[in-house]
Amino acid sequence: MKCIAPSILSADFSRLGAEVRAVEAAGADWIHVDVMDGCFVPNITMGPLVVEAVRRSTELTIDVHLMIERPERYIEDFCNAGADYIAVHQEACTHLHRTIQLIREQGAKAGVALNPATPVESLRWILGDLDFVLIMSVNPGFGGQQFIPSALDKVAQLKTTIRERGLSTLIQIDGGVNAGTISRISAAGVDVFVAGSAIFGSDDYGRTISELKAKW
Ligand code: DX5
Ligand code: ZN
Repeated sequence: MKCIAPSILSADFSRLGAEVRAVEAAGADWIHVDVMDGCFVPNITMGPLVVEAVRRSTELTIDVHLMIERPERYIEDFCNAGADYIAVHQEACTHLHRTIQLIREQGAKAGVALNPATPVESLRWILGDLDFVLIMSVNPGFGGQQFIPSALDKVAQLKTTIRERGLSTLIQIDGGVNAGTISRISAAGVDVFVAGSAIFGSDDYGRTISELKAKW
């Protein structure tokens, strides 16, 4: 089953609850929350308090993308705040295996995010422990960037590996997803599509989400 996960990074933060309810009514499947620490990525965004506020605004699955150094320090806080899925960056974890176990012990689904230059092979010994893999199709840090086409080859390679190993790991893509790119991305084997500016930058969320779903 495929999912659209609007990224609230591009929402109007002065009315976040209303924005979350609006994308839910418009056909969103998950809500994607981009957490940035000003260290792993240049930008600073939100933390567990905002996840808790989103949790009070919707029943949808909350998908937390941690773009922070040493994310193991905050896993418990994000789980307590209501995160259902948590992705940590491969590049930000010295003890990735331990961090993934920690997410699972806290009752959330665990994923690893890969920057554009990080190979899929780096997940070889952790893939069997993951609920999902997040392939970054832009360099993390900002919304509204252009899709990096090599992400499609990474998705295809990962899909083949998941099939060969008989796993049910979901593949998520994040960055530059819009009506012009989603068909190719979907054909490569993606299950969960994060879209920020394409949805929140449009004047009709329902029409935009329907258009994305018609093209995947
Ligand atoms: C980028 C974030 C993305 C971002 C995507 O670091 O991880 O989730 O919101 O934005 P768009 O869809 O505008 O590329
Ligand atoms: Zn993200």
